[in-house]
Amino acid sequence: MKMNTFMYFLFLFPLLTQPTSSTLFSHLDHFTLPPYLRNPQPQEYLEVTYSPPLTPSCSHQILNHSFANTINSPPHSTPYSSPSHCFSSSSSRILLHFHATCKGEQYDRIAALWLGGVELFRTSTAEPTNAGIFWNVRKDVTKYYSLLLRSDLNLTMMLENIVDDEYTGVYHVSVTLLFYTDDAVRVPFGRSFSRSLKDESESGFYESPPPADLIVPISSDGKRGFWFMVETENDLHSRTVQIPQNTHRAVLELCVSFHGNDEFWYSNPPNSYITANGLDTGRGNGAYREVYVTIDGEVVGSEVPFPVIFTGGINPLFWEPVVAIGAFNLPSYDMDLTPFLGKILDGKEHSFGIGVVNGISYWLVNANLHLWLDHESSVVYGNRVIHQNPETSIERIEEFSGLDGEFEVEADKETQIAGWVASCAGNITTTISQGFTFKNLIKFHNNGTYKMVKQRFMAKKKVKVVNERGELVVKLKVKRKYPLRVITLTQQPCCNKTNSDRYILVTNVTHAFKEKCVGGLFSHLVSNVQDSNGWMEVEDHSVLSGEATTKQNYSYIDGFSCYSQNVAAADGRIVGDDSSFQCENSL
Ligand SMILES: *[C@@H]1O[C@H](CO)[C@@H](O)[C@H](O)[C@H]1NC(C)=O
Ligand SMILES: *[C@@H]1O[C@H](CO)[C@@H](O)[C@H](O)[C@H]1NC(C)=O
Ligand SMILES: *[C@@H]1O[C@H](CO)[C@@H](O)[C@H](O)[C@H]1NC(C)=O
Ligand SMILES: *[C@@H]1O[C@H](CO)[C@@H](O)[C@H](O)[C@H]1NC(C)=O
Ligand SMILES: *[C@@H]1O[C@H](CO)[C@@H](O)[C@H](O)[C@H]1NC(C)=O
Ligand SMILES: *[C@@H]1O[C@H](CO)[C@@H](O)[C@H](O)[C@H]1NC(C)=O
Ligand SMILES: *[C@@H]1O[C@H](CO)[C@@H](O)[C@H](O)[C@H]1NC(C)=O
Repeated sequence: MKMNTFMYFLFLFPLLTQPTSSTLFSHLDHFTLPPYLRNPQPQEYLEVTYSPPLTPSCSHQILNHSFANTINSPPHSTPYSSPSHCFSSSSSRILLHFHATCKGEQYDRIAALWLGGVELFRTSTAEPTNAGIFWNVRKDVTKYYSLLLRSDLNLTMMLENIVDDEYTGVYHVSVTLLFYTDDAVRVPFGRSFSRSLKDESESGFYESPPPADLIVPISSDGKRGFWFMVETENDLHSRTVQIPQNTHRAVLELCVSFHGNDEFWYSNPPNSYITANGLDTGRGNGAYREVYVTIDGEVVGSEVPFPVIFTGGINPLFWEPVVAIGAFNLPSYDMDLTPFLGKILDGKEHSFGIGVVNGISYWLVNANLHLWLDHESSVVYGNRVIHQNPETSIERIEEFSGLDGEFEVEADKETQIAGWVASCAGNITTTISQGFTFKNLIKFHNNGTYKMVKQRFMAKKKVKVVNERGELVVKLKVKRKYPLRVITLTQQPCCNKTNSDRYILVTNVTHAFKEKCVGGLFSHLVSNVQDSNGWMEVEDHSVLSGEATTKQNYSYIDGFSCYSQNVAAADGRIVGDDSSFQCENSL
C-alpha cells in the first residue's frame, strides 16, 4: 500500500532541479535550455497527431488554473459538473482539449488529470522561453462517457512545479470538453454492450463498442495525485475493489510514466557495470521493465511501455517545437480482463495491484477499470476455461571491461486466456491470445564515450468472442511495434582541467510507434516515426550551444479517414510541414 508521501518528494525534487553531476557516466540525461538559445518570438509547440477537422457542436470549460510553486502541495481539485446542455442523443464523440502556456525558465514537468480518481489524461510540459510558448492537445475521451455524465465528482490535476528566483515559468492550463455530432464517427451511446452484441451478431461484427457503464479507479487516495509511486521492483501498490455482479465485460486501462533513475530505463546498464567502475549513478538495474497488473496476487496482464522522451530528455534541442512521440499525450494500455471475470463476480472485495518488473525510483502508475453491465439481470456468471499465463522469459548477456562493454536483454511472453460469461446476451466466450518480443542492446565503446541503445519491441494480440452456438461475434487483432535507437558520443572540447565539466554531446535518436488494429469498424493503422540528429555543448545540466534537426513522418488511416503529415524542425523552428488526406497505404 501507499507509503508516506512526504519523504519521497524530498528525494525526488532535488533530483529534478539540481541534477547530480554524474552526467558523463549516465547514458542519457535530462537538461534545460538557457533563454539565449531559444526562439525570441512566442512560439507554438506541438505533438504531431491526427484529430478530425470537425466543428464541435458544444464546448464546455472544465478547468482553468495556473500552476506556480506547487511543489509539495496537494493537487488542484475542483468540483466537476456535467455539461448536460452538451449531451444530446446525437452526440457521437467527446474530445478533451488541453491548452497550456508558459513563459520564463522552467523544467519540463509531468502532469495528469483525473475525474473521481479515474485518469482522463497524462501529459508532460514543454520547457518555456522568455518570449513564451503555448501548445494545444486533443484527446478522444468518449470512452469516459458514463463518468463525464456525473456531477458528484471532483476534477483533479497534479502538476508539481517550482517557482523561485531562478525558475520563473508558471504553467497556465485550461481544459475544455468538445462535443461532436457526426454520423461518421458515431459511437453507440446509450446502448448497452449486450444489446449491441445481440444486434450486431446478426449483421456481422459490431462497430466500436459503446463506452463502459462504470469506470472504477485503481488509484491512490489522491492526496498527492491519484497515481501510485513505484520505487523498487518489490513495490506492489494495490486497491480493493468490489465490482457489480452483473458485469459482463471488463477492460483495464493502465496509465504509466517513468522518471528519476528510470526516466531512460532502456539505457540503464546492469548494476555490475556501475559497481565495477565505481560510477556515481543510480541509473542501473539493467534495461528491461514491464508493468504488471495483479488480481488477488495473480498476474493478469503486463505491458512493456512505449519509451516516451520528455522535452528535457537526451537533447532538448530536438524537441522544440516538435515534441517527442507521446510527450503531450502519453499512451495508456488496455488489457481485456473479461476472461478473469469469473474470479471477481462474487460480490466480494478483490485486490487489484500494479508493479514494475526491475523498476527503480520512480514510476507513476494507476489504472481505470472499465466495466460493462448487463442491464437486464442483476447477476451474471462466468468462469475461466483456458489459462496459459507463464512468467516472462528474460535472458541477459553482459560483457564488459572497464567502461567498455555490451549488454543484451531479450524477453518474450506468450499467453492465452479464455473465459465465458453467461448474461442476458447469451453465453459468450472471450479468448485472448497475446505475446510480445523485446530485445535491448547497449554498447559502450571508446572508454565509454560512445554509447548506443538499440531496442525492439513487438506485441500481438488477438481477441475472439464467440456465442454459445460457437458463432464468431467479435474478432480483433492488434499489432504494435516500437523500435528505438539512441547514439551518443561524448567529446571533450579541450583538456582544460578547470573546465572539466564542460563537454560536447553528439546525439542521434530514431524512434517510432506503429500500431495496426483490425476488427470491424474499429480498424486503424498508425505509423509515427521520428528521426533526430544534433549536438550540444553542455556544462552541468545546462546546454550552452548546439544544433538539432528532427524529422517526423506520421500517418493515420481508419475506415473514415486517411491522413499523413511530414514535419521537419531545425534549431527550434519548423522548416517543413506537408500534410495530406491522400494515402499510399490502406488498411
Ligand atoms: C482563466 O483564468 C485566468 C486567470 O485566472 C483568466 O484571466 C482567464 O480569462 C480565464 N480564462 C477563461 C477562458 O476563463
Ligand atoms: C471534492 O473536493 C472537496 C474539497 O477537497 C472535498 O471536500 C469533497 O469531499 C470532494 N468530493 C468528492 C466526491 O470527492
Ligand atoms: C457457457 O459455455 C461454456 C463453454 O461452452 C460452458 O462450459 C458453460 O457451462 C456455459 N455456462 C452456462 C451458464 O451455460
Ligand atoms: C577512461 O575513462 C576514465 C574515466 O574518465 C579515465 O579515468 C581513464 O583514464 C580513461 N582511460 C583511457 C584509456 O582513456
Ligand atoms: C580553461 O578554463 C578557464 C576557466 O574556465 C578559461 O578561462 C579558459 O579560457 C579555458 N581555456 C580553454 C583553452 O578553453
Ligand atoms: C548521426 O546521424 C548522422 C546522420 O545520419 C550521421 O552522419 C552521424 O554519423 C551519426 N552520429 C553518430 C554519433 O552516430
Ligand atoms: C519520411 O518519408 C520520406 C519519404 O518517403 C523519407 O525519405 C524519410 O526518410 C522519412 N523520414 C522518416 C523520419 O522516417
